Amino acid sequence: MPSLNQTDQAAVALQRVWPKVRSRFTRHANRDRLAAFKHALDQDFPRLFARLISLYEGHWDFYYHLEQLLVTAANQWLGAEAASSVYQATDHAWIHAEDTIGATGYVDLFGGDLKGLTTKIDYLKDLGISYLHLMPFFDVPEGDSDGGYAIRNYGAVNPKIGTLDDLKHLSQSLAENKIKLVLDFVFNHTSDQHEWAEKAKAGDKAYQDFYWLMRDPAEKDAWGAHLRDIFPDKRQGCFTWNDEVNAWVWTTFNSFQWDLNYTNPAVFHAMCSEMLKLVNAGADVIRLDALAFTWKQQGTVCENLPKAHELIQAFNAFLRISAPQVALKSEAIVAPDDVMGYISPEECQLSYNPNLMALMWEALATRQTRLLINGSRHRTDIPDGSAWVNYLRCHDDIGWAFADADAWHCGINPHDHRYFLNQFYTGQFPGSFARGVPFQADPRTGDCRISGMFASLVGLEKAAELNDDHERTLALKRIRMMHGVLFAFKGIPLIYLGDELGLMNDHSYLDNPAHINDSRWVHRMTVPESALARRQQKGTTEHQVFSDLQSMLRVRKTQPALGVGDIQIEPEYDEHLFMFRRRDERSDVLIIANFSEHRRHLSAHQCQALRITDCATDLLTGNSFPCSDGLTLEAYDLLWLDLTTQQ
Ligand code: GLC
Ligand code: GLC
Repeated sequence: MPSLNQTDQAAVALQRVWPKVRSRFTRHANRDRLAAFKHALDQDFPRLFARLISLYEGHWDFYYHLEQLLVTAANQWLGAEAASSVYQATDHAWIHAEDTIGATGYVDLFGGDLKGLTTKIDYLKDLGISYLHLMPFFDVPEGDSDGGYAIRNYGAVNPKIGTLDDLKHLSQSLAENKIKLVLDFVFNHTSDQHEWAEKAKAGDKAYQDFYWLMRDPAEKDAWGAHLRDIFPDKRQGCFTWNDEVNAWVWTTFNSFQWDLNYTNPAVFHAMCSEMLKLVNAGADVIRLDALAFTWKQQGTVCENLPKAHELIQAFNAFLRISAPQVALKSEAIVAPDDVMGYISPEECQLSYNPNLMALMWEALATRQTRLLINGSRHRTDIPDGSAWVNYLRCHDDIGWAFADADAWHCGINPHDHRYFLNQFYTGQFPGSFARGVPFQADPRTGDCRISGMFASLVGLEKAAELNDDHERTLALKRIRMMHGVLFAFKGIPLIYLGDELGLMNDHSYLDNPAHINDSRWVHRMTVPESALARRQQKGTTEHQVFSDLQSMLRVRKTQPALGVGDIQIEPEYDEHLFMFRRRDERSDVLIIANFSEHRRHLSAHQCQALRITDCATDLLTGNSFPCSDGLTLEAYDLLWLDLTTQQ
């Protein structure tokens, strides 16, 4: 038994390594910042050390890597342009604010290039956006790069999209306009043309150790025994044979995306340096792409392993000592309880909420809110200092990531239900209003996910096909209701750019050989200038959808309860209604959404139980509802009732 506990060990380790680190910077122009850096180390080094010991204990060159990491962190701290932004207290309070509103999209599809995107900032502000997630725009090989997620070089911008200077200019303009920039850290894998992969192919053993290479098919099969296929319609199994390295390479996603080997501490250090490039590019938030897959252990499913959490906590601790102003966002599109595991100030302060997304679409298809109520009720509570990023669409597919247990609890067979939802959203179920496209249908398991623009999924495309005004009205109401729930839910709402204009599916990806096998491109389209312009013309879809979303967001910003306030999801009063309450000491709002085309009525008695005692005003329209005879909701109606004075 060692006589020192881990805190003591961390203190001794720091005492030993610190003089070496400091000596590297005694002539640095900003050496006066060393004291503040040391202060950060005193606070956060023990956490980093504990995680690294757990991950890399027993590694012959552990101390070398530890020293290198601290040198990299010090270099960042001293090299940062503005000392002030680095020294700031970093409670990330903005993540809870009612005026934090997100959008996400592709630089090229939305702005043409980085310069073009800079000219779109006024548009984003007009909509109300203060948080912008841009898909990766770094250097990637020609052809299929999984939409930018197969990175060849983090230090260079894809020349079609601009230069590092353009990026600097964009991030400065965003900062001036108080828009937070979110950039992807694609850290589970690199492109097979990344410099490290090229060195591995050339026989460099140090770089071969950066990846998972296996020569023995039996070894590969042993590792692969329990793995899930992520892109089953492209390739079965998670390994790709590569002649140049003469080995099987672990490729969880596409065959050209090589998984990194984090059991090697050199990989952790190298990727910390890559992460700092995103910080230096101006990122306020770093989105940890595909983080669930980063740690692998034979005999397991290699998803959500305890050591994956430790690895992410190690990145978090490293960020605290190098760029503490930056927050981390988790992209775990896995079962709800597993998603929750990544959320905390010590791991990821932000996380996508795929459970809510799946449940909202589920309720829209079934017109029943029971699963939405039961599946979201006990999952709103996340640690202080962290927040959900709620979304309904993004650049990826919709997967039915609700919990099986929640479904059974509601008397629903989850397997059959997912089958129904896929039939519904691909328009095959009789009477369906949706025009989605299947993604990664796997005939062996019956699994499938859904691609499609919001407007196509809620009936606008069908209405256009049939030239049916009534269908069109319903589709527009669905867009407003679904977004209105999203904007009032606890967390940061995220809009997928193009959806705010009601744009529909674009099938032209079928003509592009690099995209034809990936139906997600049906919803990755150029946002045309003409559509942006039409948002000003009354009577157009663009105008209707844009102004509905814009006005709801304006209201959100006036209600502190919709930011920091609590959320309480009401039990099932009516099979078609979803209701929740947002409250803080300043305001109190009850959200009521009708997920069906049927008229619904809440009795006076039910209104009382909901504590609507008087005439209540809908914040969205200004209309007042005397509730003495109850409350009636028409098809897809949405109310944000102001109950502030009724407490
Ligand atoms: C993430 C991205 C997705 C990509 C995958 C592999 O899930 O959102 O678009 O295909 O990672 O990088
Ligand atoms: C899977 C992965 C998720 C990724 C998605 C891409 O669902 O779990 O990380 O975004 O595939 O389609």
